[in-house]
Amino acid sequence: MKKNLIIIILLVVSTNSFAASQKSELAEKYKALNSITNKASLQRGAKYYVNYCSGCHSLKYMRMNTLANDLGIDEGIFSKNLIFANKKIGETMTIPMKEEDAIQWFGALPPDLSLTARSKGADYIYAKLNTYYEDDNSATGYNNIAYPNTSMPHILADLQGGQKLVLDSKNNPVSFSKTSEGSFSDDEYRQLTNDITNFLVYVSEPAKLKRQSIGFWVLMFLFIFTILAYYTKKEFWKDVH
Ligand code: HEC
Repeated sequence: MKKNLIIIILLVVSTNSFAASQKSELAEKYKALNSITNKASLQRGAKYYVNYCSGCHSLKYMRMNTLANDLGIDEGIFSKNLIFANKKIGETMTIPMKEEDAIQWFGALPPDLSLTARSKGADYIYAKLNTYYEDDNSATGYNNIAYPNTSMPHILADLQGGQKLVLDSKNNPVSFSKTSEGSFSDDEYRQLTNDITNFLVYVSEPAKLKRQSIGFWVLMFLFIFTILAYYTKKEFWKDVH
């Protein structure tokens, strides 16, 4: 009885992980190299996000002046270049698109991306932006490995260029092969998608940036304090020896 139970558990666990590994093996090759302390990357990510993503996706918890301050972008420059419509810098990054329009246009609602990096991980976002491939059966002309049958069009197709899926003998996706060049090289495209991912990681927890920089000064203080304490001790014990 006990033995049967163990066999059943083993079977369930192994088939589940087998199914999961089959589905996402290719997607899992895509690892974001994000670092929220890399300000230049965050600034580029913010710019790309506003240009390519904010038409459909809101960031409803992100206040624009917090963003400008954290990323070290002058508020005047920020207002001129990154804010559209007639928004004020103290507002959050919501968008004017109506839900019913979105569903009619895309067949799905573009979700708010404020927390996606936290709920689904940086690698997932990076993989989604990198694993679009040409698929004649899809309404947008593209399918996606990280998000199969996504209704989000391949927004960055002109930059990345076209790629099609390469299957192994068992019809599992193993890699991509280029069908046309984009305006970005492969490296530039990786950097672009990394910057956007990095930006969304920052957005999902803006306070982390401050915590990290406070953490640095706390460590610096402890370090200097240790040196002072050492010399003070030496001074006090000088006459004892
Ligand atoms: C033309 C509209 C449109 C644009 C522009 C757009 N998206 Fe999307 N996006 C969608 C839609 C619609 C979905 C929902 C997909 C679905 O349900 O199949 C989506 C889904 C996503 C998801 C998956 C979210 C989840 O919870 O799994 C991510 C991540 C994402 N988009 C990132 C981006 C990024 C980054 C950009 C800019 C480079 C971008 N999108 C630009 C329409 C858009």
